[in-house]
Amino acid sequence: MNDTWEALRSDCEKCTACDLCKTRTNLVFGTGDENADVLFVGEAPGDNEDKTGIPFVGRAGKLLDQFLYAVDIPREKVYIANILKCRPPQNRDPLPAEEQACMDFLRRQVKLLNPKVIVCLGRISAAKLIDPDYKITKEHGTFVKKGNYLMTAVYHPAFLLRNPSKKEEMLADMKAIKKQIDTII
Ligand code: URA
Repeated sequence: MNDTWEALRSDCEKCTACDLCKTRTNLVFGTGDENADVLFVGEAPGDNEDKTGIPFVGRAGKLLDQFLYAVDIPREKVYIANILKCRPPQNRDPLPAEEQACMDFLRRQVKLLNPKVIVCLGRISAAKLIDPDYKITKEHGTFVKKGNYLMTAVYHPAFLLRNPSKKEEMLADMKAIKKQIDTII
């Protein structure tokens, strides 16, 4: 049977595979253009995302918006999702069992979207999607082809809020992503 965005969202809403569904306010399914060529994948919803049901709308999200704007990638033309669809209490790191329980939803999103480029936002997303031993400080901004997808990782915007001196590297990575998009799309 062919998957659909509606079926996927409904399965996510009903999911009780881990305990996070008990403490979340809203499911944070993902937002953006369902035909986007570029998918950004973060880690897990925070407080503002949990309250609104939309990924990357808090301080980290606003910073991500600034980088997207700086390199002329309209937010509404990409798709933004997370490894976890429900907020971990106190924004703790996702547990391996929670990641495992949620990954199939992201796999289905990737299949439905069929993006050309996947950008991991931060170490946790890169470790899950690119390489379990991914070294974000060394490898950020490099591109690897995995199956049909060109994949890269950048610093997580929340990390940049704590380490503003890394913003220059982020801008360079975002420019390289924009260049890739413009060449292959
Ligand atoms: N951090 C994430 O990884 N995802 C969000 O949606 C918000 C903050």
